[in-house]
Amino acid sequence: MLIRIRRGWELPESAATPESVVLGRRAALGGALGAGAAVAGLAGPAWAQVAAPAMRNPRFQPGREVTPERDATSYNNYYEFGTSKTVTPAANRLKVAPWTIKFDGLVAQPRELGLEDLLKQVNLEERVLRHRCVEAWAMTVPWTGFPMSELVRLAQPRPEAKFVVFETAAQRDTMPGLRQAWYPWPYSDGCSVAEARNEMAFIATGMYGKPLPPQNGAPIRALFPWKYGFKAPKSIVRVTFQAEQPVGYWEKLQASEYGFWANVNPEVAHPRWSQASERLLGSNERVPTRIYNGYGEFVAPLYANMQNERIWY
Ligand code: MTE
Repeated sequence: MLIRIRRGWELPESAATPESVVLGRRAALGGALGAGAAVAGLAGPAWAQVAAPAMRNPRFQPGREVTPERDATSYNNYYEFGTSKTVTPAANRLKVAPWTIKFDGLVAQPRELGLEDLLKQVNLEERVLRHRCVEAWAMTVPWTGFPMSELVRLAQPRPEAKFVVFETAAQRDTMPGLRQAWYPWPYSDGCSVAEARNEMAFIATGMYGKPLPPQNGAPIRALFPWKYGFKAPKSIVRVTFQAEQPVGYWEKLQASEYGFWANVNPEVAHPRWSQASERLLGSNERVPTRIYNGYGEFVAPLYANMQNERIWY
């Protein structure tokens, strides 16, 4: 049986936000879904009704202006749809329904869950988070989703499981990038089970109060706000628990430049460029980069005994 426990900050939305704002957001959401449905000639996928919006969790204060939505959704890395930053037209072909996620490896019982089913078993919240690409650009986004620890709970890993791998969609008919056979498709990356259980690790299903657009990883992606963005797989189809440390897409391509832990550190340069500062999408302002992307208070203890390992890139 599923028991939902409200956290302290989870007031009913009507108690926290003026009703006109709530209704405005719902209308906007309805409009967005409606527009999509008109193009497809179908009702939107059922999970899209529940993927966003949600109450904002005030525990994570961004300390920066939210990036304008048009900037965060039009400057992307999604190599399956091409290597440029302008992948939106190509990514719109991504087939997002039906969507299932397989849980396997060292779990109590391997299984496959439909996205709609999965979303019924978690509590959605909104978090405004900083997102820092290894290429030294950054954005601040209101994401809708749920703590990754909830996904771990649903998967029921066995005690021998030490790492999690997120494998992402490989749709031959919609993703032209897959024809570039020298890339190690499907895109995947992972983390330790301890990291996945950390409160900062997040699974996003929406942004700006709407379901995730394809170019940002529809319908479901991972976020590790204290790591470089390449650790945040988009369009997840499989979650595997294992004993060995996995090798992700970028590490397979260029291990000397992209490591497993990839925590943000302004003092550890990428072999080809500095990480001391970052460019904010939208304003183009350059600001100093912060260690763990400013989330050290939440995540630094994860690495307390690992200072001799390559935890920075
Ligand atoms: N996930 C998949 N499946 N394919 C990708 O090419 N690029 C990664 C990550 N997740 C990528 C991916 C990189 S390099 C970054 S910086 C972020 O997604 C970018 O996320 P955004 O476009 O939402 O900002």
